[in-house]
Amino acid sequence: MSAPAPSPVPNPPRPPRDCTFTPTDWAALARFWYPVAYESELPADKPIQRTLLDELLVLFRSGDRVVAAKDLCIHRGAPLSMGWLEGGEIVCAYHGFRYAADGRCTRVPAQPDAAIPKKLCMQTFATELRYGLVWVCLSPDPIRPIPDWPLQLDPTLKHMRLPPQDWRAAAPRQAENFNDVSHLSWVHTGTFGNRDRPEVERYEVTEDEHGISFDAPYHLDANKMAANPNGTSRILYQYRMRFPFFTFLIINFSDGKHYYLWDLPSPVSARRTRVFFLMAQDYGLDADTAEIMRFQENVLNEDRPMVESQRPEELPLDLAEEFHIRADRFSTHFRNALRRFGLGADYTA
Ligand code: FES
Ligand SMILES: [Fe+2]
Repeated sequence: MSAPAPSPVPNPPRPPRDCTFTPTDWAALARFWYPVAYESELPADKPIQRTLLDELLVLFRSGDRVVAAKDLCIHRGAPLSMGWLEGGEIVCAYHGFRYAADGRCTRVPAQPDAAIPKKLCMQTFATELRYGLVWVCLSPDPIRPIPDWPLQLDPTLKHMRLPPQDWRAAAPRQAENFNDVSHLSWVHTGTFGNRDRPEVERYEVTEDEHGISFDAPYHLDANKMAANPNGTSRILYQYRMRFPFFTFLIINFSDGKHYYLWDLPSPVSARRTRVFFLMAQDYGLDADTAEIMRFQENVLNEDRPMVESQRPEELPLDLAEEFHIRADRFSTHFRNALRRFGLGADYTA
């Protein structure tokens, strides 16, 4: 079964000013949840600004919840992220209007005795804290839930995460690269890739309403075994991609050990992506975290210049535009699924 076409949203949110996406792409993407920050990036006493799908967001803590709102005070258009927090509410730095976590304006200092109209509010968005990340959906009607990753919550694993990375690339290009098996023996020869074993065994792809999955074996370079806890070279990759762009990758070593990766590209704009990258392993619980992170960063730094150089910058969803080989079966499913979600309609209409 594949992803069905989405039903229309009753009151669709409007694309932001200077939107770099086509209107239909933006509307299709706005219906998914995305991580916008690590929870640890949020100070206790200050708002921060982040960007999702060209929408400027202000994020702040209010009690034990996190609020995401349009970074705009409706009074005179000042960014609320320039303000500060008082009693779980955000104070605009320009004229001191104050907004509660539900968006209501609670104080207009220049006229303290006047009633505050209901319309005077900041526009909030659905927000969830999950896996140490702040997730936001810009639409009131999300088309898929935040992916379910029980292993992210498993306390017996050694958990790690990289600082957010900003790529000058489209999120689906980044996501497709992460699910690309045939580049491993070419791009990753500085870390684990094996130039002597470039062939990709035939693999089966399964697709359901939540995503695309496939398993592929790989032979690491025996001389570059930093990636490998037991020194054997054959591993099995299990890719579990969740729409629109998030991939959980299970790396199975032949002695039963596992290394887990979560590649979470968040679309800042059509050609900018903030990548959140989580890792976990069920071995070497006392291993040097900094060393593992350095290795993982080196791997991503091998991908990045390639992905940032791909043309066109947007992922071509018309399969005739690029050439696909058997090893690209994931990509053909991925591109077709994105089309069914309504992406690329402007080009193909
Ligand atoms: S612009 Fe925010 S209070 Fe005036
Ligand atoms: Fe790669």
